Parts: sequence; structure tokens; C-alpha cells
Amino acid sequence: MSFSILASAADGAGTPAWAMLAYLIAGVFFILALRGLSSPASSRAGNRYGMLGMLIAVVTTLVTHDIANIAEIGIAMFLGGIIGVTVARKIAMTAMPELVAGFHSLVGLAAVVVGLAAWLDPASFGITDAAGQILMVSRIELGLGIAIGAITFSGSVIAFLKLSGRMSGNPILLPMRHVINLGTLVAILGMIAANAMSGAGGAGEGQLIIYITIAAFLIGFLLIIPIGGADMPVVVSMLNSYSGWAAAAMGFTLGNTAMIITGALVGSSGAILSYIMCRAMNRSFISVIAGGFGADDSSGGGEAREARPYKQGSAEDAAFMLEQAEKVIIIPGYGMAVAQAQHALREMCDMLEEKGVEVKFAIHPVAGRMPGHMNVLLAEASVDYDKVFELEDINSEFAQADVAFIIGANDVVNPAAKTDKSSPIYGMPVFDVDKAKQVFFIKRSMGGVGYAGVDNDVFYMNQTVMLLSDAKKMVEEIVKALD
Ligand code: TAP
Repeated sequence: MSFSILASAADGAGTPAWAMLAYLIAGVFFILALRGLSSPASSRAGNRYGMLGMLIAVVTTLVTHDIANIAEIGIAMFLGGIIGVTVARKIAMTAMPELVAGFHSLVGLAAVVVGLAAWLDPASFGITDAAGQILMVSRIELGLGIAIGAITFSGSVIAFLKLSGRMSGNPILLPMRHVINLGTLVAILGMIAANAMSGAGGAGEGQLIIYITIAAFLIGFLLIIPIGGADMPVVVSMLNSYSGWAAAAMGFTLGNTAMIITGALVGSSGAILSYIMCRAMNRSFISVIAGGFGADDSSGGGEAREARPYKQGSAEDAAFMLEQAEKVIIIPGYGMAVAQAQHALREMCDMLEEKGVEVKFAIHPVAGRMPGHMNVLLAEASVDYDKVFELEDINSEFAQADVAFIIGANDVVNPAAKTDKSSPIYGMPVFDVDKAKQVFFIKRSMGGVGYAGVDNDVFYMNQTVMLLSDAKKMVEEIVKALD
């Protein structure tokens, strides 16, 4: 979530006490927003707190600053609001990660633009000393803010292009990329230090800030191109974190408490989310950043796979087995989102419960294409939260389940993650569906693969029955058969 740089462009000098208090209240609302968003049950309230906090921060900034052209700002806010509402209404749930990446790129760009504006006109930003020179601390903050903002911008643009399929999701591995990346990062830090040391008006100082900006744009691009599609969610969350730190750095420069608070909240929450996702995929943060996951195309679905025997069933077969069961665990995945099968699935779940079957939903932390993807869809279909369980809370229950009902999930139930060291998903914790007495597996065809592009032994297990169809259509047919 990006509270973004919009929190304001203000100078700290002479901020009235009431405005400081208002910023503090806005900060409290942002903290309540994050708390609310941590559970589907309170997420709507969380969003409202976030909106309220942002309203307080923006209004306080507008009122306390001598803004020359309030009409222009009003028009920009109106147009931005219209674009935001239109995009939010139109966007498909499955395209949310690319939208988030697109928005982060704007946060990064805003940090660069505000930083450059402060550099060009430091007096009106209140960052000069008595001699009219930019304070050393402000030089460091500006350098860091601009650099992080530029990395966020170009990195997010690449993430957007990869996630939206406008650019191949495969890693692009340049020779000696680690040396080039490290060298560029060291050069950026060196230039920020040199820029901080040089006094205003010193030779070449204007150029330095331009070189920092260009090098940071370049490193953002270089850092993200080697990262494979499967690691993109971590990258988006990491860029979210960067955008927060860029905003916080600008907040220090501008002496704006709201920006410092929101930037720190976004920066730290993004970092924590990246860590949680890495843990869910059993990958180290460093290995994600170093890139290359999924580089081995030979493991991908593009290759013809060995034809192996499997059992195929019908909706009637599934309905019969489901109503006989005592305990059913449903594992939704990306395909459920694509098919928008959640409402039909809720109906199926209600019917089974009426027949005395215990039904639970098992959600993998990286099921779908964004954190919380499945939870949002199930909440939209009014599935009770107390039927929805996280991986670690339900995995031990598969041994007692009569049916594991896999709907549009694939990688998150792939046992290769536990057994095949050469698999690109090796090490990712997965559901132990093989322990269930019976497995129903909904997907459209045997040819299709999951995100990681690998075959799945669950298709060919003795107790597995493949239900080859669009997920929504299949569940609707099961509902009919249960009736
Ligand atoms: P996937 O492994 O991506 O598998 C999706 C499955 O859905 C495929 O088997 C596909 O097979 C099937 N499918 C697609 N459309 C369907 C439809 N209309 N009806 C029925 N089935 C359909 O999904 P998953 O198990 O949720 O795993 C998520 C993967 O995405 C992980 O590898 C994860 O690392 C990665 N990822 C996660 C995130 C986050 S944060 N959640 C973000 C990006 C990537 P067919 O094509 O044969 O139908």
C-alpha cells in the first residue's frame, strides 16, 4: 500500500502546533489502517482509516502552506481522483500486482521530481544555511531520496512490463551482472558522499545530482531484469518498501512529519511483507535480489512433457464423492481467480455443509498472484473467515481429509517442492494433498502448467481424479449434481 509522496511538499520551519498534531493523528490513522489490513475481517475498516489519514494529511498541508496556485492543485487532484477511481473500478483482480507496480513507479518518480525541485530552489524549501548553501544533511537526504526514488521508478516500470506480459517474464541475465550492479551501487553511494561534501557552488556539483539520478535509473533497471516472474511479487513488495524510504528521506528534507511517518510505515511494512513472502517460498531475500529464479527454461511448461496415465472424472463423480465425505479441504489457486469461480464454490460449500460435510479452505501465502489474493476473493463471495486456514494451520489435517478439492491451484500443491532439488520451486512449503484419501483437481487441460511452469505428480497419483474444465463451469455442474 502506498500512502505516497502526496503527503505533501512542505517546509518544516514554522509548522504550527495544530498542524503537527494533525499530522500525528494522520499517522495514527495510517497505523490503524495497516492493522486493519492484516485481516480480511477488518480490511474494509483499514482502508477507511487509510483514506481518512490521507485526507487529514493533504488538507493540513494545503492549509498550512502558502501555495501559489491552489486552483492548479485542485484541478490536478480532481483529474488524479477521476483516473484513480476509473482504474480501481476497471482493474481485474488478477491484474492487481501490475497495477501496484505501476503506482509504485509514480511514487518513485514523485520522489525524484520533488528532490530535484528542492535541489534547484533550496531556499523556498528551507534547506539552506545562513550563507544560502544547502545544508550538508539535506544534501545527503536529497541524494538518497532521489536515488531511491529513481531505482523505485525504473524497477517498477520493469516489474509492470513483466507482470503485464508486455515483456517476457524470463530472467534476462547479463554477463558479469553482479559486478556491474555492485559497481553502479558503489558509484551512486560515492557520488552521494561527494555531493554531500561539496559546498554549494562547488565545481561540478550540479552535474553530480544529475549523474546520481541517471545511475539510479540505470541500476533500478539492471536490478529487476534478471528477476524471474515467480519472484515478481517479492520484487513488487520490495519496491513498495523502497518507495516508502524515498518518501521518508524527502520528508526529512522538507521537514514534513506526515511524510516521514508514512514513508517509514510503507518502507517497513513493505520490507516485512517481502520477508514473509520469501519465507513462504522458502527463498532467501538475497537470492531473490540476485535474480535468476526460473532462468532454467528446460523446467518450464514450454517443453513437451512425458505423457503419463491419469484418471479423468466428471462433475457427477465429484458430487457423489463430495457428499459422501466427512471432511473436505478446498485449495483454491490462481485458476479460481481467472474463472471467477468463488461464488459457485461458496454455493457448493453451503450445499455440502447442509449435507453434514465439514468444509475448510486452505490458503497458501503465495496462492494466486498477490498476497491475500484468495482471501479477498473468498471474502467477496461471503465465505466465513473461520473456515479459511493458513498453510501451517491446516497442513496436518490432510491426513484426516476424505477429499482434497484443488481448484485452479497448481504450484502450491506440487510435491516436487519437497522432493526434487532440481525443481525451480524446490524448498517452497506446499500442501500435503497426497495425504488425503481422494483428490479432485480442477484445471482446464493436462497441457497447462502453473506459474513456475513445471509438471505436477499430483495429476498422476492413484487417488487423483482430474476434472478438466473451466473452474466456474465445473463447480456449477457439481452444484447442479448435488441438488
Ligand atoms: P498456479 O501454480 O499458477 O496454477 C494455476 C492453475 O490454474 C494452473 O494449473 C492452470 O491450469 C489453472 N487454471 C488457469 N485458469 C483456469 C480456469 N479458468 N479454470 C480452471 N483452472 C484454471 O497457481 P497457484 O497454485 O495459485 O500458485 C501460485 C504461483 O504463482 C506460485 O508459483 C507463486 O510463487 C506465484 N506467484 C504468486 C504470487 C502471490 S504473492 N500470490 C504472485 C505472483 C506469482 P490450466 O491452464 O490447465 O487451466
